[in-house]
This record gives sequence, C-alpha cells and structure tokens, in this order.
Amino acid sequence: MGVMLKVNDLSVNYGHVKALKHANIEVESGKIVSIIGANGAGKSTMLRAISGLVKPATGNVEFMGSALPAKPSKIVAKGVVHVPEGRKTFSGLTIRDNLLVGGYLYKGKQLEENLEKQYKLFPILEERKNQFAGTLSGGEQQMLAVSRGLMSNPKIILLDEPSMGLAPIIVNQIYDLIRQIRDSGITVLLVEQNARKALGICDYAYVLENGIISLQGTGDELLRSDSVRKAYLGG
Ligand SMILES: Nc1ncnc2c1ncn2[C@@H]1O[C@H](COP(=O)(O)OP(=O)(O)OP(=O)(O)O)[C@@H](O)[C@H]1O
Ligand SMILES: [Mg+2]
Repeated sequence: MGVMLKVNDLSVNYGHVKALKHANIEVESGKIVSIIGANGAGKSTMLRAISGLVKPATGNVEFMGSALPAKPSKIVAKGVVHVPEGRKTFSGLTIRDNLLVGGYLYKGKQLEENLEKQYKLFPILEERKNQFAGTLSGGEQQMLAVSRGLMSNPKIILLDEPSMGLAPIIVNQIYDLIRQIRDSGITVLLVEQNARKALGICDYAYVLENGIISLQGTGDELLRSDSVRKAYLGG
C-alpha cells in the first residue's frame, strides 16, 4: 500500500530546548504505527510538528508524496487529523457541538451524514448529544475527542496518549476502537507512554529518547527487546 506519511530529518526547538533532533519516521498506509517514549521524550512535539502546530527547525513532513502545507487547517483538509494529549474537548459545549467543530470542513447534508456515522460508531455520544462535554467521564471524553477527529474524514489520525489516566477496562475499549479505526481504512499514528499496550497493537513502532529515534521495529520485536523491556516494560 506504500508509505503514507514520511517525517524527514525533523528537528524542533522550543527556545534552547531541543525537543526533536533530526528524527525520521515512516507510516505505511493502512497500518497502526506507534511511538513510545518517556515523559519529555518529544512524542507530542512530533505530532504537533506533523499537524503544523509547531514549526520545525530542520526537516519536513511528506504526506502521500508531497510536502504538507504549513497551515494547520490546510493540513486537516489534506486528511491529517490530530487528537491532542489530554483530550481537549470543549467542556462548555454540548457533545453535538464538539462534533460539529470537528466537522468544520463540511456543511449541510454531508455534515449531517458525518454526524450520523459518528453516532453509529459511538451510541453513547448520540444518547448524550445535548449534554455538555464536561459532564462526560474521562473515557467518554476520550471517545468524544477521537470522534471529533473522525468528523473531518481523515486519511490518518494522530492519537496522543489516548489511554492516559484511564482505568484498564476503559483502556481496552479505547484500544478496540483504535483497531476498528485501522480496519475501517484509516491509518493510525499512536503516541503512548503505555508501551505495552502500544507495542501490542501496532504494526510497527519507534522508540523516542530525548528527541532522538533510538530504536525501531515491529511491535513484537520491540516487546522482546531487552533494552525496551528494561526501560519501558518494567524489566
Ligand atoms: N511549549 C513549550 N515550551 C518549552 N518547552 C517545551 C514546550 N513543549 C514541550 N517542551 C519541552 O520539549 C520536550 C519534549 O516535550 P513533549 O511534550 O514533546 O514530550 P512528550 O514525549 O510528549 O512527553 P509526555 O509523555 O510527558 O507527554 C520536553 O523537554 C518539554 O519540556
Ligand atoms: Mg506528550
């Protein structure tokens, strides 16, 4: 199916902090690719650079064979959507309005169709559509954040720590959902501190350490790697 997204020689600085240093990754179409790493390794920065929220100091991002535009809204229009760390749902808006924000590229019948599609995928969001998003549980807010992203009909979805702060049973539901998204034809780039889960689900993975890609391989290869086990899987 080929490479959908290619990150070439990407560096990002925040003032004197070098958050990413000449990183290269490839995401094949139709796959789940994970990036694991500790606090501060640069995982969110990688996603922010792909979605145009921070400017790289070096390098670029290729998507389906050409460079992505610089503007975040144009990047979304190309089919790249970012579900940020910490969900960032709009707590003072209803669930329906949160979804409509995600569907801002569309209007009229197409927008309604996208909404119906999301309600089918997440019946709970339809049941609660007129409730403020702030009244949802953490797991439900994560579902809403993902659903809001899907409202733009992405080709690839960038998920930043979707399991953060959730009970194991809810994490499993989120991971079932991630599989479902991949199986529906949407490519997934998944960033996680939860290395065991992320390596368990992915087709390919990268380890990010202090802004540098230090290791890569299939999920199984990394689950078996001594250094990954020591550093990220508790031995
Ligand atoms: N806006 C910012 N200004 C200054 N430094 C920043 C900013 N955002 C991130 N950093 C720094 O850049 C480095 C990478 O941060 P980043 O958020 O990408 O890490 P991360 O791997 O996502 O960490 P976590 O697992 O805690 O979310 C860290 O040293 C962080 O302190
Ligand atoms: Mg982060």
